[in-house]
Amino acid sequence: MTERVYIFDTTLRDGEQSPGASMNTAEKLRLATQLEKLGVDVLEAGFPAASEGDFDAVSKIAAKLERTQVAGLCRTHKADIDRAWQAVKHAGNPKIHTFIATSDIHLKYKLKMDRDQVIAAVVDAVKYAKSLTDQVEFSAEDASRSDRDYLCKVFGAAIAAGATVVNLPDTVGYAIPSEFAELARYVLDHTPDMHRAILSVHCHNDLGLATANTLAAIGVGARQAEVTVNGIGERAGNTSLEEVVMALKTRNNYLPVTTGIHTEQIYPTSRLVSMITGIIVQPNKAIVGANAFAHEAGIHQDGMLKNPMTYEIMQPEAIGLNANKLVLGKHSGRHALRDRLRDMGYDLSDEELNIVFTKFKELADKKKHIVDEDLEVVVTEGILRTTE
Ligand code: KIV
Ligand code: ZN
Repeated sequence: MTERVYIFDTTLRDGEQSPGASMNTAEKLRLATQLEKLGVDVLEAGFPAASEGDFDAVSKIAAKLERTQVAGLCRTHKADIDRAWQAVKHAGNPKIHTFIATSDIHLKYKLKMDRDQVIAAVVDAVKYAKSLTDQVEFSAEDASRSDRDYLCKVFGAAIAAGATVVNLPDTVGYAIPSEFAELARYVLDHTPDMHRAILSVHCHNDLGLATANTLAAIGVGARQAEVTVNGIGERAGNTSLEEVVMALKTRNNYLPVTTGIHTEQIYPTSRLVSMITGIIVQPNKAIVGANAFAHEAGIHQDGMLKNPMTYEIMQPEAIGLNANKLVLGKHSGRHALRDRLRDMGYDLSDEELNIVFTKFKELADKKKHIVDEDLEVVVTEGILRTTE
C-alpha cells in the first residue's frame, strides 16, 4: 500500500499572517467548511491567545467541524496552551500545536533562554497539552538554522513527553532542497523514538523554494506537509497546498505517496481564498494561475488539438477547472453567470450574485465577450471592495 502524506493546512493561521490578509470570523468559517470539503487532514484554525477575534474564530470553527482535526497554535506557556485548548476542545478531533524556537540566534536574542531551559519548556508544555488531548504537535521554530544534534534532542524530549507529530519549520525560508532533505533524514535517523511520531515539514518561500524543500523532505520520509492555499503567508508566503498535492499526484511514479485531497476542489478553494483575502493570484502561478492551462503559441495549440498530453502534464478538470467554457455576453442571464462563477470557484450568496450581476451587465454593455479575467475583476470590485 502506498504511504500517506498528511496535509496540514495553515491558511487560516500562517496564511492570515500575510500582509493585508486578515479575515473576519464569518469568512473564516466559510473557508474552513471549504477546506474540509477539500479533504485537508488538519486545519490550523488560528492562534487563540493572539486576540479575542482569533479565539472566537477558532472556537466557532472547532464547534462546526466534526471530521477534520482542528488545531490551535500556542507558545509553550501554560496560559497560551489553556487558551488554545478552550478554543479547540469542542471539535470532533481537536489538536494542540505548541512551538518554541530552537536556533541559537532565537534563543539568545528573542527568548533569552539557554538550550536546557528550552528543553524544559518543551517537556512541560507537551506534557501539559497531552493531559488535555491526545493529539499534540510540537514545532521547533527556526529548525533549519538550529544545531542538528540539539534539534534531535529537543524532538526526542517532545516525543517522550507525548508529542505525536514533530515539525521541522524552515521559518525564514533559508534552506535549499538537498540540504533540507539531508536535515529531515538526519532528524529521522537521530531522534530518539522517532518511530513513535510523524515528521512534519513547514516551509516558507523567501527563496522561492518552499515547495521544492517540502517535496525533498517527503522524498526522505517526512509524512506531513504544512501548507496554505495559494501559498499565502508571512513575507513571501508558505508552501502552496496545490503545488505539493499536484506534484505528488502527477509525479506519483517518482514519489509514490498519496494524500487525502479531493483535487477537484483545489480550484474552487483557491478562488475562495483569493476572494476572501483580496490577494489576487498571479497569472503564471503554478496550478491555479489564470494562465496555468492556457496555451498561446501556435505550435503548442496545434499539439494540444492533436493530443492534450503533448503540452499538459495534468488536466484542468483534475483541479476542478472546467475547460469547456460558454461565452458570456450582454444577453446572458443570471443563471449562466452563476454557473460560470461556480466553475471558476465562486460560490456566491444571492446577495453577492445580485451585486456581481449588475456589474457584469454594465461591463457587457461595453464589451462583447466577457472572459474569465473580466469576471475576476467584476467579482473583486463588486464583492471585495463592498465588503472591505
Ligand atoms: O514558520 C514557523 O516557524 C511557524 C511555526 C509556528 C510552526 O509558523
Ligand atoms: Zn510559518
